[in-house]
Amino acid sequence: MGKMNILPDAKELWKGIGGHFDSLSQVLCEFIDNTISNYRANKVPMKTIRITLNKSRNGNAEVLIEDSGTGIKELDSAFKLGDKEIQESPMNEHGFGFKHALATADPENNNWEVYTRTEDDLDNGVYKYISAPYKYDIESKNISINDKRWPGEFNKTGTIIKFECSMELFNTIQKGIRGRASFSRCLDYLREELGYIYSFIIEQGEITINIISDEIDNGNGQPYNEVVPSIKPNIVDYYKPKNGSIKKDLGGGEVKIDYAFAQVDDNENNIKYYKKNGSSNGLELRINGRIMETNLFKEVWELENHPSYNHYLVQVNLISDNLSALPKTRTSKNGLRVGDKKLDALFNWIRSASKNKPPKQLAGAIHERELVSKLSELKENHLTAPDKHIETEYEVFKSINSPVPVDLYVYDGHNITLYEAKKDIADVKSIYQLLMYWDGAVMDGLKPHKGVLIASEFSDGVDDVIDFINSKKDDDGNDYNFTKTTWKNNNIGYPKP
Ligand SMILES: Nc1ncnc2c1ncn2[C@@H]1O[C@H](COP(=O)(O)OP(=O)(O)OP(=O)(O)O)[C@@H](O)[C@H]1O
Ligand SMILES: [Mg+2]
Repeated sequence: MGKMNILPDAKELWKGIGGHFDSLSQVLCEFIDNTISNYRANKVPMKTIRITLNKSRNGNAEVLIEDSGTGIKELDSAFKLGDKEIQESPMNEHGFGFKHALATADPENNNWEVYTRTEDDLDNGVYKYISAPYKYDIESKNISINDKRWPGEFNKTGTIIKFECSMELFNTIQKGIRGRASFSRCLDYLREELGYIYSFIIEQGEITINIISDEIDNGNGQPYNEVVPSIKPNIVDYYKPKNGSIKKDLGGGEVKIDYAFAQVDDNENNIKYYKKNGSSNGLELRINGRIMETNLFKEVWELENHPSYNHYLVQVNLISDNLSALPKTRTSKNGLRVGDKKLDALFNWIRSASKNKPPKQLAGAIHERELVSKLSELKENHLTAPDKHIETEYEVFKSINSPVPVDLYVYDGHNITLYEAKKDIADVKSIYQLLMYWDGAVMDGLKPHKGVLIASEFSDGVDDVIDFINSKKDDDGNDYNFTKTTWKNNNIGYPKP
Protein backbone atom coordinates (compact mmCIF):
# COMPACT_ATOMS: atom_id res chain seq x y z
CA MET A 1 0.00 0.00 0.00
CA GLY A 2 1.27 3.43 -0.86
CA LYS A 3 0.16 6.89 0.09
CA MET A 4 -3.43 7.64 -0.62
CA ASN A 5 -4.91 10.89 -1.84
CA ILE A 6 -7.87 11.55 0.38
CA LEU A 7 -8.35 15.22 -0.41
CA PRO A 8 -12.11 15.56 -0.88
CA ASP A 9 -13.55 16.99 -4.04
CA ALA A 10 -14.03 20.71 -3.30
CA LYS A 11 -17.54 20.72 -4.73
CA GLU A 12 -18.61 17.84 -2.50
CA LEU A 13 -16.85 19.39 0.46
CA TRP A 14 -18.88 22.56 -0.01
CA LYS A 15 -22.08 20.55 -0.02
CA GLY A 16 -20.92 18.70 3.07
CA ILE A 17 -20.11 21.77 5.12
CA GLY A 18 -23.40 23.47 4.23
CA GLY A 19 -26.56 22.69 6.11
CA HIS A 20 -25.13 23.27 9.57
CA PHE A 21 -27.61 25.99 10.30
CA ASP A 22 -31.34 25.99 10.87
CA SER A 23 -31.97 29.57 9.90
CA LEU A 24 -30.67 32.56 8.00
CA SER A 25 -30.30 34.34 11.34
CA GLN A 26 -27.71 31.77 12.41
CA VAL A 27 -25.89 32.22 9.11
CA LEU A 28 -25.77 35.97 9.65
CA CYS A 29 -24.51 35.45 13.20
CA GLU A 30 -21.33 33.82 11.88
CA PHE A 31 -20.48 37.04 10.05
CA ILE A 32 -21.52 39.20 13.00
CA ASP A 33 -19.41 37.08 15.39
CA ASN A 34 -16.37 37.61 13.20
CA THR A 35 -16.97 41.33 13.11
CA ILE A 36 -17.38 41.55 16.89
CA SER A 37 -14.21 39.52 17.30
CA ASN A 38 -12.39 41.91 15.01
CA TYR A 39 -13.73 44.95 16.90
CA ARG A 40 -12.70 43.40 20.22
CA ALA A 41 -9.17 42.68 19.07
CA ASN A 42 -8.48 45.97 17.34
CA LYS A 43 -8.98 49.64 18.02
CA VAL A 44 -11.79 50.34 15.61
CA PRO A 45 -13.18 53.88 15.53
CA MET A 46 -16.65 53.02 14.24
CA LYS A 47 -18.20 49.79 15.50
CA THR A 48 -21.01 49.33 13.04
CA ILE A 49 -22.27 46.49 10.89
CA ARG A 50 -24.79 47.02 8.10
CA ILE A 51 -26.94 44.14 6.95
CA THR A 52 -28.82 44.86 3.75
CA LEU A 53 -31.49 42.43 2.61
CA ASN A 54 -33.52 42.78 -0.57
CA LYS A 55 -35.65 40.72 -2.91
CA SER A 56 -33.69 39.91 -6.03
CA ARG A 57 -35.17 40.01 -9.53
CA ASN A 58 -35.19 36.24 -9.84
CA GLY A 59 -37.15 35.70 -6.65
CA ASN A 60 -34.25 35.12 -4.27
CA ALA A 61 -33.03 37.20 -1.36
CA GLU A 62 -29.91 39.34 -1.79
CA VAL A 63 -27.82 39.82 1.31
CA LEU A 64 -24.91 42.16 1.89
CA ILE A 65 -23.09 42.48 5.20
CA GLU A 66 -20.59 45.25 5.61
CA ASP A 67 -18.39 45.97 8.61
CA SER A 68 -16.00 48.76 9.40
CA GLY A 69 -13.27 46.55 10.86
CA THR A 70 -9.64 46.17 9.92
CA GLY A 71 -10.30 43.98 6.88
CA ILE A 72 -9.07 40.40 6.69
CA LYS A 73 -5.30 40.45 6.89
CA GLU A 74 -4.43 36.79 6.26
CA LEU A 75 -6.81 35.87 3.50
CA ASP A 76 -5.48 32.40 2.82
CA SER A 77 -5.76 31.38 6.49
CA ALA A 78 -9.21 32.94 6.70
CA PHE A 79 -10.45 30.81 3.78
CA LYS A 80 -8.78 27.64 5.01
CA LEU A 81 -11.14 25.29 6.85
CA GLY A 82 -10.22 24.82 10.49
CA ASP A 83 -7.38 27.32 10.50
CA LYS A 84 -6.77 28.57 14.04
CA GLU A 85 -3.67 30.65 13.42
CA ILE A 86 -5.52 33.91 13.05
CA GLN A 87 -8.01 33.87 15.90
CA GLU A 88 -8.57 37.40 17.14
CA SER A 89 -10.69 36.63 20.21
CA PRO A 90 -12.56 33.63 21.69
CA MET A 91 -15.31 34.47 19.20
CA ASN A 92 -13.08 32.89 16.55
CA GLU A 93 -13.18 29.37 17.83
CA HIS A 94 -13.19 26.64 15.20
CA GLY A 95 -12.00 28.18 11.96
CA PHE A 96 -15.13 27.12 10.10
CA GLY A 97 -17.69 29.85 10.72
CA PHE A 98 -17.99 31.98 7.65
CA LYS A 99 -17.22 29.13 5.23
CA HIS A 100 -20.01 27.07 6.79
CA ALA A 101 -22.28 30.07 6.61
CA LEU A 102 -21.55 30.73 2.93
CA ALA A 103 -22.01 27.06 2.11
CA THR A 104 -25.45 27.14 3.72
CA ALA A 105 -26.44 30.39 2.05
CA ASP A 106 -25.11 29.47 -1.39
CA PRO A 107 -25.17 25.67 -1.64
CA GLU A 108 -24.63 25.88 -5.41
CA ASN A 109 -21.31 27.60 -4.68
CA ASN A 110 -21.89 30.02 -7.50
CA ASN A 111 -22.74 33.49 -6.24
CA TRP A 112 -21.03 34.45 -2.97
CA GLU A 113 -18.51 37.29 -2.92
CA VAL A 114 -16.11 38.68 -0.32
CA TYR A 115 -14.58 42.13 -0.48
CA THR A 116 -12.03 43.17 2.07
CA ARG A 117 -9.76 46.12 2.57
CA THR A 118 -6.93 46.55 5.07
CA GLU A 119 -5.10 49.72 6.04
CA ASP A 120 -2.37 48.90 3.47
CA ASP A 121 -4.95 48.32 0.75
CA LEU A 122 -6.58 51.62 1.57
CA ASP A 123 -3.20 53.40 1.25
CA ASN A 124 -2.63 51.71 -2.11
CA GLY A 125 -6.09 52.50 -3.47
CA VAL A 126 -7.05 48.84 -3.80
CA TYR A 127 -9.24 46.20 -2.19
CA LYS A 128 -9.26 42.41 -2.37
CA TYR A 129 -11.98 40.39 -4.00
CA ILE A 130 -12.69 36.67 -3.66
CA SER A 131 -15.71 35.00 -5.17
CA ALA A 132 -17.43 31.66 -5.75
CA PRO A 133 -16.69 28.88 -6.43
CA TYR A 134 -14.84 27.78 -3.29
CA LYS A 135 -11.90 25.62 -4.43
CA TYR A 136 -8.47 24.60 -3.17
CA ASP A 137 -6.57 27.04 -5.36
CA ILE A 138 -8.97 29.91 -4.78
CA GLU A 139 -7.56 33.27 -5.79
CA SER A 140 -7.95 36.73 -4.38
CA LYS A 141 -7.86 39.60 -6.84
CA ASN A 142 -6.47 43.03 -6.16
CA ILE A 143 -8.91 45.56 -7.52
CA SER A 144 -8.08 49.22 -7.93
CA ILE A 145 -10.80 51.57 -6.73
CA ASN A 146 -10.25 53.49 -9.99
CA ASP A 147 -11.43 50.45 -11.94
CA LYS A 148 -14.34 49.48 -9.70
CA ARG A 149 -15.48 51.37 -6.67
CA TRP A 150 -15.73 49.77 -3.23
CA PRO A 151 -19.27 48.39 -3.16
CA GLY A 152 -20.06 49.42 0.41
CA GLU A 153 -21.18 52.51 2.28
CA PHE A 154 -18.25 52.83 4.69
CA ASN A 155 -15.36 54.23 2.75
CA LYS A 156 -12.72 52.85 5.08
CA THR A 157 -11.12 49.53 5.93
CA GLY A 158 -13.55 46.68 6.39
CA THR A 159 -15.13 43.57 4.96
CA ILE A 160 -18.18 42.94 2.82
CA ILE A 161 -19.84 39.57 2.40
CA LYS A 162 -22.40 39.26 -0.34
CA PHE A 163 -24.62 36.38 -1.44
CA GLU A 164 -27.97 35.48 -2.85
CA CYS A 165 -29.98 32.86 -1.03
CA SER A 166 -33.27 31.12 -1.65
CA MET A 167 -36.53 32.57 -0.32
CA GLU A 168 -36.91 29.31 1.61
CA LEU A 169 -33.77 30.13 3.56
CA PHE A 170 -34.84 33.77 3.97
CA ASN A 171 -38.17 32.63 5.40
CA THR A 172 -36.42 30.64 8.12
CA ILE A 173 -36.08 34.01 9.87
CA GLN A 174 -39.66 33.36 10.88
CA LYS A 175 -38.77 30.10 12.61
CA GLY A 176 -40.84 29.61 15.75
CA ILE A 177 -43.41 32.26 14.88
CA ARG A 178 -46.79 31.31 13.47
CA GLY A 179 -48.33 32.65 10.25
CA ARG A 180 -46.78 33.82 7.01
CA ALA A 181 -44.94 37.08 7.36
CA SER A 182 -44.11 39.62 4.67
CA PHE A 183 -40.48 40.34 3.77
CA SER A 184 -40.31 43.45 5.94
CA ARG A 185 -42.09 41.72 8.82
CA CYS A 186 -39.37 39.09 8.64
CA LEU A 187 -36.87 41.91 9.04
CA ASP A 188 -38.64 42.86 12.28
CA TYR A 189 -38.24 39.29 13.46
CA LEU A 190 -34.58 39.33 12.49
CA ARG A 191 -34.14 42.54 14.45
CA GLU A 192 -35.57 40.93 17.56
CA GLU A 193 -33.54 37.76 17.05
CA LEU A 194 -30.24 39.61 16.71
CA GLY A 195 -31.17 42.01 19.50
CA TYR A 196 -31.67 38.98 21.73
CA ILE A 197 -28.56 37.05 20.69
CA TYR A 198 -26.28 40.07 21.07
CA SER A 199 -28.22 42.05 23.69
CA PHE A 200 -25.35 42.35 26.17
CA ILE A 201 -22.85 43.23 23.45
CA ILE A 202 -25.13 45.88 21.97
CA GLU A 203 -25.81 47.29 25.41
CA GLN A 204 -22.09 47.58 26.13
CA GLY A 205 -21.67 49.60 22.93
CA GLU A 206 -19.41 46.98 21.37
CA ILE A 207 -21.39 46.97 18.15
CA THR A 208 -24.24 48.75 16.37
CA ILE A 209 -26.17 46.55 13.96
CA ASN A 210 -28.27 48.16 11.22
CA ILE A 211 -30.83 46.32 9.12
CA ILE A 212 -31.53 47.96 5.81
CA SER A 213 -33.83 47.20 2.88
CA ASP A 214 -35.66 48.83 -0.02
CA GLU A 215 -38.80 47.18 1.32
CA ILE A 216 -41.11 49.49 3.22
CA ASP A 217 -41.02 49.35 7.00
CA ASN A 218 -44.59 48.83 8.23
CA GLY A 219 -43.72 50.83 11.32
CA ASN A 220 -43.04 54.16 9.60
CA GLY A 221 -43.85 53.80 5.88
CA GLN A 222 -40.20 54.47 4.91
CA PRO A 223 -37.68 52.10 3.33
CA TYR A 224 -36.52 49.75 6.06
CA ASN A 225 -33.61 51.13 8.10
CA GLU A 226 -33.56 50.08 11.71
CA VAL A 227 -31.01 49.78 14.47
CA VAL A 228 -31.09 46.46 16.31
CA PRO A 229 -32.03 47.17 19.94
CA SER A 230 -30.79 45.27 22.98
CA ILE A 231 -33.66 42.88 23.78
CA LYS A 232 -34.02 42.33 27.51
CA PRO A 233 -36.26 40.44 29.90
CA ASN A 234 -38.80 42.24 32.04
CA ILE A 235 -37.32 41.41 35.44
CA VAL A 236 -39.61 42.13 38.38
CA ASP A 237 -37.61 40.56 41.16
CA TYR A 238 -34.72 38.24 41.92
CA TYR A 239 -34.43 34.92 43.68
CA LYS A 240 -31.39 33.98 45.72
CA PRO A 241 -28.51 34.36 44.95
CA LYS A 242 -30.07 37.29 43.01
CA ASN A 243 -27.71 38.98 40.54
CA GLY A 244 -24.00 39.43 40.74
CA SER A 245 -20.71 38.12 39.58
CA ILE A 246 -18.26 35.47 40.76
CA LYS A 247 -15.03 33.98 39.53
CA LYS A 248 -14.87 30.24 39.08
CA ASP A 249 -12.71 27.61 37.49
CA LEU A 250 -14.87 25.25 35.46
CA GLY A 251 -11.92 23.05 34.69
CA GLY A 252 -9.71 25.02 32.32
CA GLY A 253 -8.82 28.21 34.13
CA GLU A 254 -10.75 30.97 35.79
CA VAL A 255 -13.82 32.51 34.20
CA LYS A 256 -15.98 35.34 35.42
CA ILE A 257 -19.62 34.39 35.75
CA ASP A 258 -22.17 37.20 35.62
CA TYR A 259 -25.51 35.90 36.77
CA ALA A 260 -29.11 36.87 37.44
CA PHE A 261 -31.67 34.53 38.99
CA ALA A 262 -34.74 36.42 38.00
CA GLN A 263 -38.47 36.48 38.27
CA VAL A 264 -39.80 37.82 34.99
CA ASP A 265 -43.01 39.12 33.56
CA ASP A 266 -43.96 39.01 29.91
CA ASN A 267 -42.02 41.53 27.84
CA GLU A 268 -44.95 42.83 25.85
CA ASN A 269 -42.80 44.64 23.27
CA ASN A 270 -41.38 41.37 21.99
CA ILE A 271 -42.79 38.91 19.52
CA LYS A 272 -40.78 35.85 20.47
CA TYR A 273 -38.35 36.37 23.32
CA TYR A 274 -38.79 36.85 27.06
CA LYS A 275 -42.51 36.09 26.90
CA LYS A 276 -42.74 34.41 30.30
CA ASN A 277 -43.58 31.10 28.69
CA GLY A 278 -42.23 27.60 28.46
CA SER A 279 -39.88 28.48 25.62
CA SER A 280 -38.29 31.52 27.23
CA ASN A 281 -37.75 30.36 30.82
CA GLY A 282 -35.00 28.33 32.48
CA LEU A 283 -31.32 28.90 31.93
CA GLU A 284 -30.05 31.29 29.29
CA LEU A 285 -26.34 30.89 28.75
CA ARG A 286 -24.06 33.40 27.07
CA ILE A 287 -20.36 33.36 26.40
CA ASN A 288 -18.75 36.78 26.32
CA GLY A 289 -22.19 38.27 25.88
CA ARG A 290 -23.30 36.12 22.95
CA ILE A 291 -26.17 33.65 23.35
CA MET A 292 -25.11 30.02 23.28
CA GLU A 293 -27.99 28.09 24.79
CA THR A 294 -31.45 29.13 25.88
CA ASN A 295 -34.39 27.59 27.62
CA LEU A 296 -32.36 24.88 29.35
CA PHE A 297 -34.36 23.35 32.11
CA LYS A 298 -34.19 19.61 32.45
CA GLU A 299 -30.47 19.70 31.65
CA VAL A 300 -29.86 21.80 34.76
CA TRP A 301 -32.48 20.86 37.32
CA GLU A 302 -33.35 17.36 36.13
CA LEU A 303 -37.02 18.28 36.25
CA GLU A 304 -39.58 18.61 33.49
CA ASN A 305 -40.32 22.19 32.53
CA HIS A 306 -43.79 23.25 33.63
CA PRO A 307 -45.92 26.43 33.38
CA SER A 308 -45.41 27.07 37.10
CA TYR A 309 -41.76 27.82 36.20
CA ASN A 310 -42.56 30.22 33.36
CA HIS A 311 -41.55 33.18 35.51
CA TYR A 312 -38.10 31.77 36.28
CA LEU A 313 -35.18 32.95 34.16
CA VAL A 314 -31.55 32.40 35.03
CA GLN A 315 -29.19 34.47 32.91
CA VAL A 316 -25.57 33.41 32.97
CA ASN A 317 -22.78 35.10 31.03
CA LEU A 318 -19.36 33.48 31.05
CA ILE A 319 -16.57 35.96 30.50
CA SER A 320 -13.03 35.03 29.55
CA ASP A 321 -10.39 35.72 26.93
CA ASN A 322 -9.13 32.21 27.34
CA LEU A 323 -10.89 29.74 25.05
CA SER A 324 -9.76 26.74 27.06
CA ALA A 325 -11.45 28.09 30.20
CA LEU A 326 -14.83 28.17 28.45
CA PRO A 327 -17.16 25.28 27.54
CA LYS A 328 -16.79 24.21 23.93
CA THR A 329 -19.45 25.34 21.48
CA ARG A 330 -20.75 23.29 18.60
CA THR A 331 -19.07 24.15 15.34
CA SER A 332 -22.28 25.84 14.27
CA LYS A 333 -22.37 27.95 17.48
CA ASN A 334 -26.03 27.19 17.93
CA GLY A 335 -25.34 25.42 21.15
CA LEU A 336 -22.78 23.88 23.42
CA ARG A 337 -21.44 20.37 23.34
CA VAL A 338 -23.33 18.04 25.62
CA GLY A 339 -21.06 16.06 27.87
CA ASP A 340 -18.55 18.92 28.09
CA LYS A 341 -17.03 18.78 31.58
CA LYS A 342 -16.96 22.56 31.97
CA LEU A 343 -20.62 22.73 31.08
CA ASP A 344 -21.36 20.06 33.71
CA ALA A 345 -19.38 22.06 36.26
CA LEU A 346 -21.38 25.14 35.39
CA PHE A 347 -24.69 23.30 35.67
CA ASN A 348 -23.60 21.99 39.06
CA TRP A 349 -22.90 25.48 40.26
CA ILE A 350 -26.25 26.79 38.97
CA ARG A 351 -28.06 23.88 40.56
CA SER A 352 -26.50 24.43 43.97
CA ALA A 353 -26.81 28.24 43.74
CA SER A 354 -30.55 27.77 43.17
CA LYS A 355 -30.81 25.33 46.10
CA ASN A 356 -31.29 22.41 43.72
CA LYS A 357 -34.70 23.45 42.58
CA PRO A 358 -36.24 26.27 40.60
CA PRO A 359 -38.87 28.24 42.52
CA LYS A 360 -42.44 27.62 41.52
CA GLN A 361 -44.80 30.48 41.07
CA LEU A 362 -48.28 29.77 42.23
CA ALA A 363 -51.13 31.16 40.22
CA GLY A 364 -51.88 34.66 41.44
CA ALA A 365 -48.57 35.13 43.28
CA ILE A 366 -47.93 38.74 44.15
CA HIS A 367 -44.87 40.90 43.48
CA GLU A 368 -43.48 43.42 45.93
CA ARG A 369 -44.18 46.14 43.39
CA GLU A 370 -47.84 45.21 43.26
CA LEU A 371 -48.11 45.53 47.05
CA VAL A 372 -46.47 48.96 46.92
CA SER A 373 -48.81 50.17 44.22
CA LYS A 374 -51.77 48.88 46.29
CA LEU A 375 -50.50 50.92 49.22
CA SER A 376 -50.01 53.91 46.98
CA GLU A 377 -53.59 53.57 45.70
CA LEU A 378 -54.98 53.40 49.23
CA LYS A 379 -53.10 56.57 50.19
CA GLU A 380 -54.32 58.25 47.03
CA ASN A 381 -57.91 57.43 48.02
CA HIS A 382 -57.64 58.31 51.70
CA LEU A 383 -55.76 61.55 51.59
CA THR A 384 -57.80 64.60 50.77
CA ALA A 385 -55.38 67.55 50.73
CA PRO A 386 -55.44 69.19 47.28
CA ASP A 387 -51.62 69.45 47.24
CA LYS A 388 -51.01 65.85 48.35
CA HIS A 389 -48.30 64.00 46.44
CA ILE A 390 -47.93 60.23 46.34
CA GLU A 391 -45.23 58.64 44.24
CA THR A 392 -43.68 55.19 43.96
CA GLU A 393 -39.97 55.00 43.06
CA TYR A 394 -39.57 58.60 44.18
CA GLU A 395 -36.00 59.75 43.71
CA VAL A 396 -33.77 61.18 46.43
CA PHE A 397 -30.12 62.25 46.23
CA LYS A 398 -31.17 64.12 43.11
CA SER A 399 -29.09 67.09 44.26
CA ILE A 400 -25.88 65.11 43.87
CA ASN A 401 -26.96 63.50 40.61
CA SER A 402 -27.02 60.03 42.13
CA PRO A 403 -30.72 59.34 42.32
CA VAL A 404 -31.90 56.51 44.58
CA PRO A 405 -35.56 55.46 44.28
CA VAL A 406 -37.63 55.39 47.47
CA ASP A 407 -40.28 52.63 47.35
CA LEU A 408 -43.04 55.07 48.23
CA TYR A 409 -43.13 58.81 48.99
CA VAL A 410 -46.27 60.24 50.59
CA TYR A 411 -46.90 63.94 51.19
CA ASP A 412 -50.29 64.37 52.86
CA GLY A 413 -50.37 68.15 52.59
CA HIS A 414 -48.43 68.62 55.85
CA ASN A 415 -45.87 65.88 56.31
CA ILE A 416 -43.59 63.68 54.27
CA THR A 417 -43.49 59.91 54.94
CA LEU A 418 -40.95 57.65 53.27
CA TYR A 419 -41.59 53.91 52.89
CA GLU A 420 -39.23 51.01 52.52
CA ALA A 421 -41.19 47.91 51.48
CA LYS A 422 -40.32 44.23 51.84
CA LYS A 423 -42.78 41.72 50.54
CA ASP A 424 -41.96 39.10 53.17
CA ILE A 425 -39.42 39.47 55.94
CA ALA A 426 -37.67 42.79 56.61
CA ASP A 427 -34.36 42.73 58.41
CA VAL A 428 -31.91 45.27 59.79
CA LYS A 429 -30.59 46.05 56.31
CA SER A 430 -34.02 47.40 55.35
CA ILE A 431 -33.79 49.97 58.15
CA TYR A 432 -30.52 51.23 56.78
CA GLN A 433 -32.13 51.42 53.36
CA LEU A 434 -34.74 53.66 54.95
CA LEU A 435 -31.99 55.68 56.64
CA MET A 436 -30.44 56.24 53.22
CA TYR A 437 -33.78 57.47 51.83
CA TRP A 438 -34.14 59.86 54.75
CA ASP A 439 -30.63 61.27 54.41
CA GLY A 440 -31.08 61.58 50.65
CA ALA A 441 -34.31 63.51 51.14
CA VAL A 442 -32.61 65.82 53.67
CA MET A 443 -29.76 66.39 51.25
CA ASP A 444 -32.31 67.38 48.61
CA GLY A 445 -33.71 69.99 51.02
CA LEU A 446 -36.75 68.03 52.21
CA LYS A 447 -37.86 67.55 55.79
CA PRO A 448 -39.14 63.99 56.24
CA HIS A 449 -41.52 63.47 59.12
CA LYS A 450 -41.65 59.69 59.29
CA GLY A 451 -39.84 56.66 57.88
CA VAL A 452 -41.93 53.49 57.65
CA LEU A 453 -40.67 49.97 57.18
CA ILE A 454 -43.53 47.89 55.80
CA ALA A 455 -43.31 44.10 55.50
CA SER A 456 -45.09 40.86 56.42
CA GLU A 457 -42.68 39.96 59.19
CA PHE A 458 -39.61 41.39 60.87
CA SER A 459 -36.45 39.59 61.84
CA ASP A 460 -34.96 39.79 65.34
CA GLY A 461 -33.20 43.01 66.17
CA VAL A 462 -35.31 45.23 63.94
CA ASP A 463 -36.97 46.94 66.95
CA ASP A 464 -33.62 47.53 68.64
CA VAL A 465 -32.10 49.12 65.58
CA ILE A 466 -35.17 51.31 65.03
CA ASP A 467 -34.86 52.55 68.65
CA PHE A 468 -31.15 53.12 68.14
CA ILE A 469 -31.68 55.26 65.06
CA ASN A 470 -34.59 57.15 66.61
CA SER A 471 -32.21 58.27 69.34
CA LYS A 472 -30.12 60.14 66.74
CA LYS A 473 -30.56 63.29 64.73
CA ASP A 474 -30.32 63.84 60.99
CA ASP A 475 -28.08 66.33 59.22
CA ASP A 476 -30.57 69.15 59.80
CA GLY A 477 -30.64 68.40 63.54
CA ASN A 478 -34.09 66.80 63.46
CA ASP A 479 -34.91 63.48 65.13
CA TYR A 480 -35.13 60.41 62.94
CA ASN A 481 -38.61 59.00 63.30
CA PHE A 482 -38.84 55.40 62.14
CA THR A 483 -41.66 52.89 62.65
CA LYS A 484 -42.56 49.48 61.34
CA THR A 485 -45.86 48.12 60.12
CA THR A 486 -47.30 45.13 58.26
CA TRP A 487 -49.23 44.96 55.00
CA LYS A 488 -52.22 43.64 56.90
CA ASN A 489 -52.25 46.62 59.26
CA ASN A 490 -52.54 48.75 56.16
CA ASN A 491 -55.56 46.85 54.83
CA ILE A 492 -53.56 44.94 52.27
CA GLY A 493 -54.36 41.24 52.39
CA TYR A 494 -50.84 39.87 52.17
CA PRO A 495 -49.77 37.22 52.99
CA LYS A 496 -52.98 35.36 52.34
CA PRO A 497 -53.96 33.01 55.19
N1 LIG B 1 -15.14 40.51 9.16
C1 LIG B 1 -13.90 40.11 9.42
N2 LIG B 1 -12.92 41.01 9.71
C2 LIG B 1 -11.67 40.61 9.98
N3 LIG B 1 -11.27 39.32 9.98
C3 LIG B 1 -12.17 38.38 9.71
C4 LIG B 1 -13.53 38.71 9.41
N4 LIG B 1 -14.20 37.56 9.16
C5 LIG B 1 -13.31 36.57 9.30
N5 LIG B 1 -12.10 37.04 9.63
C6 LIG B 1 -10.88 36.22 9.85
O1 LIG B 1 -11.09 34.97 9.24
C7 LIG B 1 -10.92 33.91 10.17
C8 LIG B 1 -11.82 32.76 9.82
O2 LIG B 1 -13.18 33.07 10.12
P1 LIG B 1 -14.23 31.90 10.37
O3 LIG B 1 -15.49 32.51 10.80
O4 LIG B 1 -14.28 31.03 9.17
O5 LIG B 1 -13.58 31.04 11.54
P2 LIG B 1 -13.29 31.54 13.03
O6 LIG B 1 -14.05 32.77 13.31
O7 LIG B 1 -11.81 31.59 13.24
O8 LIG B 1 -13.86 30.33 13.89
P3 LIG B 1 -15.42 29.91 14.05
O9 LIG B 1 -15.57 28.60 13.33
O10 LIG B 1 -15.55 29.76 15.52
O11 LIG B 1 -16.25 30.98 13.46
C9 LIG B 1 -11.17 34.55 11.52
O12 LIG B 1 -10.47 33.87 12.54
C10 LIG B 1 -10.65 35.95 11.34
O13 LIG B 1 -9.25 36.01 11.56
MG1 LIG C 1 -16.10 32.92 12.93
